[in-house]
Amino acid sequence: MPTVQADRLKEIAAQLLMGAGATEEEAAIVARHSIGANLAGHDSHGIIQIPTYIDRVKRGHIVPGAEYEVVRESSTTTVVDGHWGYGYVVSERAMKTTMAKAQEHGVAAATVFRQSHVGRVADYPIMASSEGLIGMMTADSGRSAKGVVPFGGREARLGTNPICISMPSNLEGPMFIDMATSAVAAGKLGVAVARGTSVPEGWIIDKDGNPSTDPSDLRNGGAVLPLGGAEGHKGYGLAVMIEIFSGILTGLGFGHDPSGRHNDGCFMAAFKVDAFRDLADFKKEVTEFAQYLKETPTAKGFSEVFYPGELEHLKEKRLLQEGIAVEDSTWDKLKALADEYGLAEKLAL
Ligand SMILES: NC(=O)c1ccc[n+]([C@@H]2O[C@H](COP(=O)([O-])OP(=O)(O)OC[C@H]3O[C@@H](n4cnc5c(N)ncnc54)[C@H](O)[C@@H]3O)[C@@H](O)[C@H]2O)c1
Repeated sequence: MPTVQADRLKEIAAQLLMGAGATEEEAAIVARHSIGANLAGHDSHGIIQIPTYIDRVKRGHIVPGAEYEVVRESSTTTVVDGHWGYGYVVSERAMKTTMAKAQEHGVAAATVFRQSHVGRVADYPIMASSEGLIGMMTADSGRSAKGVVPFGGREARLGTNPICISMPSNLEGPMFIDMATSAVAAGKLGVAVARGTSVPEGWIIDKDGNPSTDPSDLRNGGAVLPLGGAEGHKGYGLAVMIEIFSGILTGLGFGHDPSGRHNDGCFMAAFKVDAFRDLADFKKEVTEFAQYLKETPTAKGFSEVFYPGELEHLKEKRLLQEGIAVEDSTWDKLKALADEYGLAEKLAL
């Protein structure tokens, strides 16, 4: 596996995306979010996705330079039709609008539909929390293929339906919870397949509903379990609510349409802390709260307690120095695309 510095990987991603028709601005945004996911330790949403996005462009499932249309709005709400643009580009813009409305009116929310993959959901609420707002976002994949079983079922009927909430603080890194409501994000199974590794028990079942540790079982009729193991009804219930926010409130619907494009429906919201409490006091107390949590005596097998989001921050600091390991199968795909777009020499691939 080659280890590549983040900036070089960003440049490779951006150039390949431009080769596939993205504008310079779109390519820079998609590359920043994707490599940001690698830096945060979520390789499933990193450079590995670039060949997939380019394939979607070729199939007309992503439209570079797509129109961004606000189809309904009020002073505190916005409904955005992304016209099949890059999800990163569409959702970043929708979050900026939501933040501006929340700054003015205290709270604001938006729904987004007809956009491609939004990637690591944390990126958008963190935009809000870094400006003194509480940020929130949920996502699902419209009527794209489903991967997660309802609690007690053995056929996939739900997406991995992630949610993120991010809080302003004075901590060195952002405090957020950013999680799939399935036992694992589906992309992590893709990474395990690409790397030829097995996965822990409790993540997936095979096509007959038996527990499995072979990630390829997912592609062979298996499914991901809801978050929570024996208490999976809680992950399942949360996934259902997220799908209603992101799929039904957006008008994308539920279930699977095999002819459809990948369609990340999103709900996002921002809350201005100042509308409730002085921002400086709030940030100070959230910081003290994190410290209080971190000072918890550790249980057997643990060396440290982390605040939510801390591990991603620590990882990013380390990987910015050390570089990002890219699995050979992904590297080969990047090289093949560089050849296709006549960029091999320019990118030294
Ligand atoms: N766009 C999509 O369609 C989609 C779908 C599913 C997931 N995702 C993304 O996939 C990524 C991975 O999701 P996941 O569920 O595998 O995340 P995860 O299990 O790695 O982490 C979930 C959360 O738990 C926190 N955390 C992890 N270990 C911790 C510890 N030891 N102590 C304290 N906090 C800890 C993390 O900071 C994070 O906020 C997320 O970024 C998510 O947004 C995206």
